[in-house]
Amino acid sequence: MRVLGIETSCDETGVALYCSEKGLLAHALHSQIALHAAFGGVVPELASRDHVRKLLPLIRRLLDDAGLGRGQVDGVAYTAGPGLIGALLVGAGLGRSLAWAWGIPAVAVHHMEGHLLAPMLEPGPPAFPFVALLVSGGHTQLVAVAGVGAYRLLGDTLDDAAGEAFDKTAKILGLPYPGGPELARLAERGDPDRFRFPRPMTDRPGLDFSFSGLKTFARNCVLEHSPLDEATRAAIARAFEDAVLDTLVIKCRRALRETGLKRLVLAGGVSANRRLRERMGLMATAEGAEVRWPRPEFCTDNGAMIAYAGCQRLLRGAREPLEIDARARWPLTTLAPPQEALNP
Ligand code: KG4
Ligand code: ZN
Repeated sequence: MRVLGIETSCDETGVALYCSEKGLLAHALHSQIALHAAFGGVVPELASRDHVRKLLPLIRRLLDDAGLGRGQVDGVAYTAGPGLIGALLVGAGLGRSLAWAWGIPAVAVHHMEGHLLAPMLEPGPPAFPFVALLVSGGHTQLVAVAGVGAYRLLGDTLDDAAGEAFDKTAKILGLPYPGGPELARLAERGDPDRFRFPRPMTDRPGLDFSFSGLKTFARNCVLEHSPLDEATRAAIARAFEDAVLDTLVIKCRRALRETGLKRLVLAGGVSANRRLRERMGLMATAEGAEVRWPRPEFCTDNGAMIAYAGCQRLLRGAREPLEIDARARWPLTTLAPPQEALNP
């Protein structure tokens, strides 16, 4: 089965073709970074309009690159939430309509399920069950994954997501949007011993997170040392990053021990962080566990993960009715395995 995947939940237009027999056939991405940079963050209405402009030409190019005609696509998968509602509606509207016009089934995909299953696009995919750490701009969750659609929430953030904390702290440090990767680059040059930030909620049991205090800690540190010289900026970035990464590692170790599982999957934009991978790798080895992550371009938003997740659901019979539906909010744990999604 060949599935066209469409991702438009935020500031990337992503499309891909995934084949259940041959794997990923082609993928393409248009990033809106240049469009939003002048505003220091994503402007939702500009995001929607840019998806409208870029999505159809990107799909045409994708089909040409893969050498496929429209009669050779067997299903369409699109992100239906969570995300920016206007941006989601562009992908959902076009995806559902293409499927109708081509006479093939459509399936609505949960953006975080896409992230969670993205490591399956890599050679030697992880086997179920595993613990997943989902770390993106909007989510920080620990999930026990028994199979496609079988998700048990172990821990969640009480306030900011890890990526959001990276972005806000980057702004405080005067770094350009998108802040997370910029902050990570600056931190590489920072003295690790100059400042020490707290590791929030690690001194009590539980698997929940809280990152908003770290951002305040960073703001106070900046005020105290202003005007900042380059070495101090880098040291603050380093201290912030070390605190987030340590916290994530401590909670992942706890999740592995509590569930007794020996496999960990990292997914979402923050899992592109090089030092996070390094530290998780060391922790997993010490625990006798294995850890997997997707290649960096499949950590951040992309069409391939949506095509993959959609294909898994379509193969098991999931079908979307004719309505075009998108949800700004959509808890991951309301999903069910695709067999149960049949004939609701
Ligand atoms: O998954 P994603 O592309 O979009 C959402 O679903 O939110 O994640 C984007 C988030 C942003 O907050 C971005 O700053 C963060 O991932 N991010 C990083 C890195 N690359 C992306 N954070 C830390 N280090 C990175 N290398
Ligand atoms: Zn995402």
